[in-house]
Amino acid sequence: MREYPHVFEYPFYFKNEAQPTCHLKGRWREDFFHNANPIVLELGCGRGEYTVGLAERYPEQNFIGVDIKGARMWSGATEALNKGLKNVAFLRTSIEFIDQFFNEGEVEQIWITFPDPQMKKYTKRLTSTPFLMRYSHILVPNGIIHLKTDSPFLYTYTDALLKENHLPVEINTTDLYEDKGIEINAAAIQTYYESQWLSRGMAIKYIRFRLPANPALVEPDIEIPLDDYRSYGRTTRSGVTSRPAAKL
Ligand SMILES: C[S@@+](CC[C@H](N)C(=O)[O-])C[C@H]1O[C@@H](n2cnc3c(N)ncnc32)[C@H](O)[C@@H]1O
Repeated sequence: MREYPHVFEYPFYFKNEAQPTCHLKGRWREDFFHNANPIVLELGCGRGEYTVGLAERYPEQNFIGVDIKGARMWSGATEALNKGLKNVAFLRTSIEFIDQFFNEGEVEQIWITFPDPQMKKYTKRLTSTPFLMRYSHILVPNGIIHLKTDSPFLYTYTDALLKENHLPVEINTTDLYEDKGIEINAAAIQTYYESQWLSRGMAIKYIRFRLPANPALVEPDIEIPLDDYRSYGRTTRSGVTSRPAAKL
């Protein structure tokens, strides 16, 4: 991937070292995409199928898939190259440092697709307040965030967080493909990972909300049943009190 012109790798960071600096910070449009189109991120893009799918559907937007795992990213990066897509890039880094890579207001939308629900520790959850604060540093004011998940735990947590903080929610469904009241549009793209959950009979949850500039966010204080189809080690988690879920 080092030779790929559309992949930027910053995989390692140690607390005692300088923060990674990215030459494209604030200049993705000018110096990489060479257009003024909006930038959309997919966080935790894995194999990049969603990023590539979005780029094919929306040529008038620029898409950047972000993940820490290079081997997974390679397949999406290779596909984008083979398809000659000019509106796709990949950024290999930890999402914890996402605001090191983009200027304030440089990003229009963020997709979070099938993230690990991180039931143990809310600070690792990609929709938690620490992550939303990072996103607020790079998004345009009232920028859009999309969450697609199989996880009842992550859905319940995110829904509660949005309600607690009165964030404007545009779409909120516990069953994306069965809910006749919504237009699916870009949320219809399915990755291999998603198809695996669907084949196991899991309903896909989808939330689209907006994040205002400088939000003062608090964590929700609720009990959330743990997903029983995932492994976890303890029953009480920092940040939330949780109990084992009933069988789905
Ligand atoms: C369950 S996979 C989902 C992949 C993809 N979104 C899909 O739907 O097929 C979650 C991905 O998020 C990435 N990830 C999780 N936490 C991350 C973090 N803090 N920084 C970077 N990548 C992360 C993992 O490496 C993994 O590839």
